[in-house]
Formats: sequence, C-alpha cells, structure tokens
Amino acid sequence: MGRVAGKVALVTGGGSGLGAADCAALAREGARVVVTDVKLETAQRVAARIGEGAVAMELDVASEEAWIATMKAVDEQFGRLDILVNNAGVVLNADVEETTLEQYRWVNSVMSDGVFLGCKHAIPLMNRNDGGSIINMSSTGALLGYPIFFAYSAAKGAVRSMTKSVAVMCQEKGYRIRCNSVHPGSIETPMVQQAEGRPGEEREVPSGVLKPGASGAPEDVAAMVLFLASDESRFVNGAEMVVDNGVTIRPF
Ligand SMILES: NC(=O)c1ccc[n+]([C@@H]2O[C@H](COP(=O)([O-])OP(=O)(O)OC[C@H]3O[C@@H](n4cnc5c(N)ncnc54)[C@H](O)[C@@H]3O)[C@@H](O)[C@H]2O)c1
Repeated sequence: MGRVAGKVALVTGGGSGLGAADCAALAREGARVVVTDVKLETAQRVAARIGEGAVAMELDVASEEAWIATMKAVDEQFGRLDILVNNAGVVLNADVEETTLEQYRWVNSVMSDGVFLGCKHAIPLMNRNDGGSIINMSSTGALLGYPIFFAYSAAKGAVRSMTKSVAVMCQEKGYRIRCNSVHPGSIETPMVQQAEGRPGEEREVPSGVLKPGASGAPEDVAAMVLFLASDESRFVNGAEMVVDNGVTIRPF
C-alpha cells in the first residue's frame, strides 16, 4: 500500500523542477495527482510521464478566478482534495534598490498571492471529506538575508508566516487540515539555472552525501513533500521544514 494511497493531490507549478518531482513521488506512492501549471503543455508532459492516475490542468496561481475554476474541476472529477502543494514560483535577481514596484508585485502575485489563494480555495474542498495536508513551498530565502533575491525573499517570508496562520486557524476551527512550509536550499532546477545565469545548462547532482554548498536534486525536496503529504506526519503542523544540507546552520 502506497504512503498516500487513496488520496487526491494537486501540485501547482507541476510542469517543471520541484513540482514535477513532487508529482512523480506522490503518484508513485498511490495518490491521484492533478498536475497544474500556468504552462499547460509542461503539465501535460509531466502527467503523461506519470500515466494513469495523473491529469493536467492549466492554473495561473495568481488568478482567483482560475483557482475557483480549478477547485470546481477537481471536485467534479475526483469529488475530493487531500493534498495541496503550493509550489509554483518565479525568481528575480534584483536587490531592493534595483527592484521596481511592478517587479515586486509580479513576484509576490505568484508566490504570495498564489499561496494565499491556494489555501483559501482548497480548504473548503478538503473539509468536505477527510481534511488534508497543505504544503507551501517557501525557501531558505525566508530565513536568511539574500540581497539579490529581495522580492523573492519577501514573498517566501509571507509564505512562511501565512503557513503558521493557516495551521492554527484550522486547529481552532476543528478542521482536520495541517499546513507546513518547506524551505529548500539550492536545488538543481531550471529556476536555479536561470538565477545562476546558465539557463538550460543542467548539472548532474551526485548520489550519496553531498558536500556543503552543493545543490541538491528535486527528489531531495520531494521526499519531504511526500512525508508532509502522508499521514506519517500527522504530528507535524505549522512547521518550517528546512531541506538545505545545513546551509542555514553554518556560522559563516
Ligand atoms: N530550485 C531551488 O533551488 C529552490 C529553492 C528554494 C525554493 N524553491 C521554490 O520551489 C518552487 C519550484 O521551483 P523550481 O526550482 O522547481 O522552479 P522551476 O522554474 O523549475 O518551476 C517553477 C514552475 O512554476 C510555474 N509557474 C510560474 N509562474 C506560475 C503561475 N503564475 N502559476 C502557475 N505556475 C507558475 C512555471 O511554469 C514552472 O513550471 C518555487 O516556489 C521556488 O521558489 C526552489
């Protein structure tokens, strides 16, 4: 029996990087997976790779109308939602002096508004059945000072805080919904390739224990997402799960 067998999961930004790895891990452990992305064709590719049990849907997480339509479609197709992974993201290399208000709003519309809207619109559907698990993708950017990722870090800080607020609200209202944030360090994905100025240049992540400062693989984060999605983590709620091979605890 799979670790998330019988559950229905929705992953945002599932067409690439961490989201695609989350979808594969959840499907492997028995969940039916709704792979969503603003780029439908990438979600379709990921769903096709998974095969039976996965469907692709277009979802721009910054659009409330899109969230309402997607929750309706999930309800009609599956009648339930057990796992939401608010993963979609964009990156902008700019410090506070360089960032325009338009850029700031764009980054936050995807990663802060997007997570807010996901939590808001998933909770009613989760509540119709057995509750569920919401996993919000934050970053070590929410925990450290990264000048060059100013707007990105601001959005990830919002994700960290709203996660705790959602977790406590669900407990206070008697909902059987947990909500946790995940804080990866550098993971080898198209986003990091772009942020490091090497778009499309994929680097292999070695197996085994990684050196300090080395990038991890998407599967390293998917393993945490899978744990939080499953009932194994029933006593983990409102927590910030750091997946960074020790980057945030090094003194320098
Ligand atoms: N890769 C890392 O090192 C790293 C570290 C910490 C946190 N994260 C976070 O993990 C998440 C996934 O990042 P990734 O590295 O896999 O990046 P990625 O660029 O490979 O994937 C991001 C996905 O989000 C989608 N997306 C962008 N805007 C969207 C929108 N408005 N609506 C729906 N989908 C949208 C993209 O189309 C893409 O498929 C992001 O939230 C990112 O901030 C990544």
